[in-house]
Amino acid sequence: MADLALNGLSKHYGDFYAVRDVSLAIADGEFLVLLGPSGCGKTTTLRMVAGFIEPSAGEVRLGGQDVTLLPPWKRNAGMVFQSYALFPHMTVAQNVAFGLEMRKLGRVDIDQRVEETLALVRLDGFGGRLPRQLSGGQQQRVALARALAIRPDVLLLDEPLSNLDAKLRQEVRIEIRELQRQLGLTTVMVTHDQEEALTMADRLVVMNEGAVRQVGTQRDLYERPADRFVAGFVGRTTFLGGTVKAPGRFRSDGGLALACTGGRPGRAVLSLRPERAMVGRAALSGLDNSLPGTVEFVSYLGALIDIHVRLSPKDRLVVQIANRDGGFTPEVGQPVHVGWPASAGQIFNE
Ligand SMILES: Nc1ncnc2c1ncn2[C@@H]1O[C@H](COP(=O)(O)OP(=O)(O)O)[C@@H](O)[C@H]1O
Ligand SMILES: [Mg+2]
Repeated sequence: MADLALNGLSKHYGDFYAVRDVSLAIADGEFLVLLGPSGCGKTTTLRMVAGFIEPSAGEVRLGGQDVTLLPPWKRNAGMVFQSYALFPHMTVAQNVAFGLEMRKLGRVDIDQRVEETLALVRLDGFGGRLPRQLSGGQQQRVALARALAIRPDVLLLDEPLSNLDAKLRQEVRIEIRELQRQLGLTTVMVTHDQEEALTMADRLVVMNEGAVRQVGTQRDLYERPADRFVAGFVGRTTFLGGTVKAPGRFRSDGGLALACTGGRPGRAVLSLRPERAMVGRAALSGLDNSLPGTVEFVSYLGALIDIHVRLSPKDRLVVQIANRDGGFTPEVGQPVHVGWPASAGQIFNE
């Protein structure tokens, strides 16, 4: 077991920076998730930690030791690749034994370790099969067993669930998290799927364009996003473009005069989470903002209902309501009122 530190890690190809100056400290036993859109540098970061890509600058420290220049098999990191990357012509047992052979363990030790690790991922008895004789979920577990067999100090997972169907993905999320807790393994997982990230992480790192935008818990990122990108990427929000006229006063591009908190006078966007706004038949008293509008779209999600309300030719807001007995559910075309307290919105200056 070990802690992991990335200090000023960068990778450029020519003058294009795939990863720029990433510094992170991951505690022993922590499950950290790197979250960001495709192409933002997640895989490159993870591969630099594993030793498959040499950084252009910066260092990787594992358990206090500088491992930046060590080849992959000399740093004790287990990696699961996005595509599993199982060797198709090798049996399950041979796949799981791969890292152990690289580390030159004896035959008896290897056989025992393979057996133990297959049991850990509930694949006892599958050692003699070839990868193509397994389901997607089973192949994923072989990849995990291969990473765990070396008894790594750190587990690195690159979109490990992306090839699984939705139902299985939800089950495997929980399996991986339970196994990680049981083993107390320091883990870094990469994903572009925010629900997966929010479900599994102790802490999250939001990346964009090669750089870290924010590090925090689920609550930190959702309640106090550091910038407009994080607000839009973690959870859902409506952005209204406009101008902060004076402290507490926002004027939208569509001409709405709104009460707000924070921000500097000047161009800005007002971000409002759909569940923080309310919708009613009449003006909403007791709220800083209450505006008339017309329902343009209703999306029925089961437990929740999204109401898209047109407030002006340039301003449309999404309000999310709980689907309750006797609750007011407006219909498309209906005039309604929408309201929220000033503190529910967040201003991002441009
Ligand atoms: N070997 C390479 N040469 C040039 N550009 C690369 C190379 N590897 C990755 N990139 C670029 O670096 C960026 C980050 O890639 P990657 O780390 O794979 O992103 P992610 O995993 O977040 O989708 C992308 O724009 C990608 O095209
Ligand atoms: Mg990737």
